[in-house]
Amino acid sequence: MHYTNKSKAILNWYDCRKRNLPWRSSKNPYKVWLSEVMLQQTQVETVIPYYENWLNNYPTILSVANADLDDLLKIWEGLGYYTRCRNFYRAAREVVSKFNCKIPDQIDRFRTLPGVGDYIAGAVMSIAFNQSHVAIDGNHRRVISRVLGLKSLSRYNQKRLKSYLRKLIAINRPGDMNQALMDIGSSICKPRSTCCIECPLHNSCRAYLSGKPLSYPDKISGKRIPVKNIVAALFEREDKILISKRPERGLLGGLWELPNTEIPNGSNPQESLKNILNKKNSHNIKVGENVGEIKHTFTHFKMNVSLYHCKVSNYSVSEPMSKWVSFSDLNQYAFSKANHKLFGLIKKENV
Ligand code: ADE
Repeated sequence: MHYTNKSKAILNWYDCRKRNLPWRSSKNPYKVWLSEVMLQQTQVETVIPYYENWLNNYPTILSVANADLDDLLKIWEGLGYYTRCRNFYRAAREVVSKFNCKIPDQIDRFRTLPGVGDYIAGAVMSIAFNQSHVAIDGNHRRVISRVLGLKSLSRYNQKRLKSYLRKLIAINRPGDMNQALMDIGSSICKPRSTCCIECPLHNSCRAYLSGKPLSYPDKISGKRIPVKNIVAALFEREDKILISKRPERGLLGGLWELPNTEIPNGSNPQESLKNILNKKNSHNIKVGENVGEIKHTFTHFKMNVSLYHCKVSNYSVSEPMSKWVSFSDLNQYAFSKANHKLFGLIKKENV
């Protein structure tokens, strides 16, 4: 099949079978951009309510630029990968200050904004501005590897994949083509199952013709990720608990949490917590009962968090970004999922 015919077959399939998703009803670059930022590393079903809630609160790029980062993080709370939110905020401010509030429609300019890499740039330029740019995500890699019969995703093969996509996209409706391949990847050509007969490309798909579509591309062997042991402190004072804010930069930057620290493997959590807290603060802190443990997995590591009730009289907080907050006010602050698990423990144990 020639590229023009393949392209037509894919777009015909898309016109009949595309998923009806809220961000597909508009070509507004702000909405397209927001959706693509949220969709990076996050499933469609998870994103939908976050996307709608965000737009209800921040309908324009200007409203994002004028917002308070803490309020944006609160809306993002639970979606994970919070750097996306911080970068989107910084980028919105740059759109206002450098580009007179207009999202650039030239890829080189757009690419200068914080958080905008090849994928986001290609997706926004193709979907919002109908420009012929590829936006290669995991679905594209899998679908086209199978079509071309690529086993490994070596540099050379990634180039072949990109060049194939460029040819498909050059014909017509680049934004729809990028999204059609995402939909084929998520509904037909899935990582662990396929329904090749329904695929508009099956006639020329090498993986299908081999009879073993799932064996393309090769599985990347799962790397073991390290486990960190964390101890966290539940300080209570007159019905309030102590929370602290993480530094703006880095993992979960700008989010709030119960004071905590990593401890070396094999060390006694209670002792370590006592030493660390007493060193950091001038008062003598007593580490009490263990409230329980939670586990949480990030992309690069897993953590086991052990929570301890801590007591102190006349405590002065040494870190500037700490606050005493009542339980009923906790919902005004953005916390990571791991911290919500700790709050779950506290509720369950009726501490
Ligand atoms: N994943 C990333 N971008 C997407 C889009 N525009 N539609 C569906 N899934 C996506």
